[in-house]
Amino acid sequence: MGHGCGKVILLGEHAVVHGVPAIAAGIDRGADAEVDRATDTELSIGEVRVIPGDGSELGRALSALLAELGAGSVSVRATTCLPVGCGLGSSAALAVAIARAVQALDGDASSERTLAAATAWERVFHGNPSGIDTAAAAQGGCIWFTKASGPEPLRLGLPFTLAVAVAGPAASTRSMVESVARIAERRPEVFQKSLAGIEALVKNARIALEAGDLTGLGRLMDLNQMLLSGLMVSTEEIEFACRLARSAGALGAKLTGAGGGGCVIALVESDPEPVLAAWRAQGLTCFSTHVGAKKE
Ligand code: MEV
Repeated sequence: MGHGCGKVILLGEHAVVHGVPAIAAGIDRGADAEVDRATDTELSIGEVRVIPGDGSELGRALSALLAELGAGSVSVRATTCLPVGCGLGSSAALAVAIARAVQALDGDASSERTLAAATAWERVFHGNPSGIDTAAAAQGGCIWFTKASGPEPLRLGLPFTLAVAVAGPAASTRSMVESVARIAERRPEVFQKSLAGIEALVKNARIALEAGDLTGLGRLMDLNQMLLSGLMVSTEEIEFACRLARSAGALGAKLTGAGGGGCVIALVESDPEPVLAAWRAQGLTCFSTHVGAKKE
């Protein structure tokens, strides 16, 4: 049995691909996998069933993960309660869960090998990911992440609660990362200014998190959302969901992950219900999650 947690990026998505630090948190929803040795390799996730070489991305990702682990033929049954492709790291959570379950067959608990296998899987879907999704899925908690140095656990001044909504249909992470890369190519000066702005926000957010300053953190999230809009990764649905959350009392709100659709996160002072009720009234699927410690 293996588990991988879903994640939210609190600040710094996209910029992290270009070397800027980002802050992510594991959430309590995730993916689980069970693995048995078998004559032929297969993977089932609910109703979906794939085998290596069937031409599907999932089949190729499974082959890449097993090859990285040097594993023989296995039968994998995985489940996830994360919406797929919505910015909550569903594919990284699955990859970590499957890698851990495969490793467990040999009593191998090496986290380096889990990350290497999950990265091989993620490359099939996302091209050249920064690694923040797999790091958060494997580690949980709140992490500071750079592409160069990897994850570092953050010590929170206060636990906090996020409301999470699916603001619109998912977009491909690969295509959103490519569209930001095109902006970087066409308008390098503007892009560098955005990166510098995001870096300053992320660094201040670390200070706010460590001090337990949730009001400050919320403001920084709002500012990060503005800069993400400038990189053209926001949508009307995302902006609308953020506005609803702020009007219902959220301390800050932004997209999370690649954008172009998918999920919005809103930081709340304590009770997520007013924000969730505002979203539900507009027909949005939503839930809340705690980072740091569970509230009763
Ligand atoms: C996706 O969850 C986060 C991005 O920054 C891509 C990456 O870091 O690989 C958009």
